[in-house]
Amino acid sequence: MCGIVGYIGAREAQPILINCLKRLEYRGYDSCGIALLGETAEVHKDAIRIEALERSLQPNDSQAGIGHTRWATHGKPSGINAHPHTDCSGTIAVVHNGVIENFLQLREQLTSEGHTFRSETDTEVIPHLIEKYYKGDLEPAVLKALADIAGSYAFIAIRAGCDELVVARKDSPLIIGIGDKEYLVASDVPAVLDYTDRVIYLEDGDLATITQGTFKLTSNGKQIERTVHRVPWTMEEAQKAGYEHFMLKEIHEQPRAIQNTFAGYISALEPEIDLGIRKDIDFDNISIMACGTSYHAALVGKHAINKLVQIPVNVDMASEFNYSDTILGKSLVIVVTQSGETADSLKALKKAKELGCYTLVITNVVGSSATRIADDILYIKAGPEISVAATKSFVAQLIMLYLVALAHSAIDTRSRGSLLTELRQLPNRLYEILDREEEIAGHGKYLAGYDNIFFVARGINYPIALEGALKLKEISYIHAEGYAAGELKHGPFALLTLDTPVVAIAAKDNTYETLLANIKEMKARESPVIAIAEEGDAEIEQYVDFVVRVPKVDPLFSPVVNVTALQLLAYYTAKERGCPIDTPRNLAKSVTVE
Ligand code: AGP
Repeated sequence: MCGIVGYIGAREAQPILINCLKRLEYRGYDSCGIALLGETAEVHKDAIRIEALERSLQPNDSQAGIGHTRWATHGKPSGINAHPHTDCSGTIAVVHNGVIENFLQLREQLTSEGHTFRSETDTEVIPHLIEKYYKGDLEPAVLKALADIAGSYAFIAIRAGCDELVVARKDSPLIIGIGDKEYLVASDVPAVLDYTDRVIYLEDGDLATITQGTFKLTSNGKQIERTVHRVPWTMEEAQKAGYEHFMLKEIHEQPRAIQNTFAGYISALEPEIDLGIRKDIDFDNISIMACGTSYHAALVGKHAINKLVQIPVNVDMASEFNYSDTILGKSLVIVVTQSGETADSLKALKKAKELGCYTLVITNVVGSSATRIADDILYIKAGPEISVAATKSFVAQLIMLYLVALAHSAIDTRSRGSLLTELRQLPNRLYEILDREEEIAGHGKYLAGYDNIFFVARGINYPIALEGALKLKEISYIHAEGYAAGELKHGPFALLTLDTPVVAIAAKDNTYETLLANIKEMKARESPVIAIAEEGDAEIEQYVDFVVRVPKVDPLFSPVVNVTALQLLAYYTAKERGCPIDTPRNLAKSVTVE
């Protein structure tokens, strides 16, 4: 997610824009830029830190302008790809957050009409569209441009010689700060808090035209008013959007992370998937490598690919693969790494290439080291993940692995269509679990009193048992073990007592009956059992102490809903134990050492 800022008012814009951008640095970025409005739209931008941009600027008395911090999703971090983007003549400048899904078609159309593009970004189509429709008034030109755009956007447009900001929002957050003789626009509240605590939260379809001293707000063509809210937060609280920790904020961002990840890969009309990677690679097996949470995503990916593509899939911990004699053969090697910087995963990627395999990386960070080694890249679009514990990036990795399986599957169009329909519904299913947060928090408080906990599951949810245990270990410091439910009786049963609760994922798939039998065996050893079970599954209640309900989804996608419940469970357990949560002891967000 990028950071957007805009200013128009009685003061010099430049220092205010820079300060607003600095307030958005916590979101993570790889490049930044500003455009100052006057007789020209003076753009300064590069793949640099904000301080470096600030040092590069000369004094400027412009009283309006826009600014941007870029978290790359299309096109590597570079000066050319940094925002603001302009039209051919550099007269119109735009900063944008979101994903323009039809940017390739728009780019082709505009190029055929004589527009020249400089960047690799989807955003650059916006100023060219506005230029195409500009007939002397900026707002109607923006409206016409919006009519051509499909996807999500929050953007600010300016035009040289036109003393106004035109602002539009759809599916990406945008606010207007009401100051004293000045207005600020931003993608996030922290950017404006140094100047005002009065904000308007724009809604989808809103368009605002802001001039010196006035602003007009329309929604779907009609002039409207929106409530001016007082922001009750401190700056730090605002950076977490009011959540106590980034981890909780990022769990709540998961529906959006899913939508942004599959947008652009799934066509809006027919059940076709275009991953934009080479289709002519000859392989007869797939080998997936990763570390930590990404390794758990890889294990789910194995189940999905086995089921939908029916070719052999092997999964390795990257750190083990690097020192093994694993035979890869004619293998497509997929490395899953959120940061794209994990040393073990980078080493595995290089080794796979040296062994002659075609390599594909699934990552959240455009331009990361992994993207410069792999033969092909699939970007998840989870946005910056600040908390050390991976949550939304994990769910986005699952979605990407499902898309890989579906894209290579031989299933019939009808089955593919129904799976894609269910995939599109997953964000709504997650909202249903997030609505149960308070109930799950209660179970977290209960678990906080224990020091040893098992997480068990079978089949495609076994990796989710591993992930649930890892989340709990990482942030609550409780010793938690993820185990295949069928394996517990082969030794770990010796550990089951009243003081060793078990969290059992009881997915209603082909493993359900045997898992119930395992639960009965655990209860016979007096362990408290919390079941993660589907809505409507009444049978489970008689065998366990507590039930956390998750929505019914296709068994293939049950890891997505189950892990969301376990993330919340881990979060509230750690919160009850007073742990730092976002910055756990001994851990780093990206492990760049072997
Ligand atoms: C997950 O919560 C941890 N932060 C850790 O296991 C992480 O998943 C692992 O280090 C891999 O990171 P990557 O996805 O950036 O490669």
